[in-house]
Amino acid sequence: MSKSTRRQFILRSATQAASVALVLNGKLIPLPPSILPKPAGPNERVNLGFIGFGIRGNILLEAAKETQRANLVEVCDCYQGHLERAKERTEGKIATNFAQYKKLLDRKDIDAVVVATPDHWHRRIMLDALSAGKDVYIEKPMTYRIEDGPAMIRAAKENKRIVQVGSQWVSSEQHKKAREIVTSGKLGKVTKVTASYNRNSSTGSWNYPIPTGLQDGVNFDWNEWLGPAPKVAYNPERVFRYRKYWDYSGGISTDLFVHLITSIHFIMGAEMPKSVVATGGILHRHDGREVPDTLDALFDYGTFCVNMAGTFNSASTAGQGIQFLGTEGSLSILLGAGMVEQPEYKREGYEYSIDSWPRAMQEAFLNQGNHRAESQGPAIKPAPENLEFFNKPDATVLHLANFLDSVRTRQPSYETADVGHLTAAAGHMVNLSYRSGRRMLWDATKGSASEA
Ligand SMILES: NC(=O)c1ccc[n+]([C@@H]2O[C@H](COP(=O)([O-])OP(=O)(O)OC[C@H]3O[C@@H](n4cnc5c(N)ncnc54)[C@H](O)[C@@H]3O)[C@@H](O)[C@H]2O)c1
Repeated sequence: MSKSTRRQFILRSATQAASVALVLNGKLIPLPPSILPKPAGPNERVNLGFIGFGIRGNILLEAAKETQRANLVEVCDCYQGHLERAKERTEGKIATNFAQYKKLLDRKDIDAVVVATPDHWHRRIMLDALSAGKDVYIEKPMTYRIEDGPAMIRAAKENKRIVQVGSQWVSSEQHKKAREIVTSGKLGKVTKVTASYNRNSSTGSWNYPIPTGLQDGVNFDWNEWLGPAPKVAYNPERVFRYRKYWDYSGGISTDLFVHLITSIHFIMGAEMPKSVVATGGILHRHDGREVPDTLDALFDYGTFCVNMAGTFNSASTAGQGIQFLGTEGSLSILLGAGMVEQPEYKREGYEYSIDSWPRAMQEAFLNQGNHRAESQGPAIKPAPENLEFFNKPDATVLHLANFLDSVRTRQPSYETADVGHLTAAAGHMVNLSYRSGRRMLWDATKGSASEA
């Protein structure tokens, strides 16, 4: 296929993919259009506030600009340096709020908020925002623990608010195309998925640099940062490297696996694993962390199994990404890059297993039915096809644009609180298994996990 024909094909496929959707409780959640339509007019723009303005908050503010659907009204953070950066990014226009997010929520002229705080704050801030009448874009993982989810879902429904959870990959062209290939049946029966997410650097394993001049009570508010977490002495290491500690994060599983899990649920049309078992450890990064630097998990979804792995001790690209293995073919998603589709090459190779038979018996067997042809397989091994990847618009921009459109139209967002709760819950089950050494079972009726 020529480049332009392929591009047309992908665009057409993306439009067709609008008829498929994320499945929840047997219902289809409609997909947003992939290509950003025209920007919203000045009076149609959503007035947006930001709570938590660290690494992700900054990315989301830039994404909000790109959507051309939002007015950037106010930003709240516990560190003055981050507020200064917000001013720099908006030519001084955005209002800043030091560690008083409820004041931001009191503003009647703010329609919606982006919540990008560490995970231990997600539940409280989302509940406060919903009861203040705000629509909420909440970063993944939606919850810090499984038990947080039901109240967050209920609050979204009772307050009739739009919620979008921030696993942005599902809004990418690549994932929609992958979903289309898998649901078309082209890969046959997909009974196995493998996925991995690896890194091998100090910052990659969350030892982010700590800004100089940080002073609690002066330019930083430790008490507000801690919020609902256990009270411990002020420690900037915990602030900027919070993913290393159980009090604020679930480590690899809730930070990275949740992305993979959301993608697998979306592409396979799955809701929740029946069981999860995990193992791992701190094998190399002995830097005071509590969470493992290497983690392996097995998920049983009933009709397919998932083998998921993450390590911070090697970033070899071998096996990185997500592979869907079907009876007729496989699809490999390369994270942030393209996809490779590979039809199966089926050969029975009977000669190997009947070589110990008397020669006449071997010949008789090969002459029976299609045995000889089956044994040799197709003459030509089908070549893998590289599927082009379009990274524009960026998935975060598309995901946020979908949220802002939902805020305006009151149509359901794409990654609702129900979806975010289940994907995070599957991630929490990995940690529950890792920490208890037991297999975890999901009870879909009760919506809870227990040890096998
Ligand atoms: N979707 C993605 O690809 C993606 C990428 C990175 C992070 N994230 C998610 O975004 C969230 C934040 O991650 P990060 O890397 O930006 O962390 P970060 O530490 O860089 O930023 C968090 C910010 O929240 C602020 N904060 C804490 N408590 C607050 C409060 N009560 N009120 C106001 N601000 C408060 C902190 O001061 C900090 O600036 C996490 O849930 C993470 O999982 C998602």
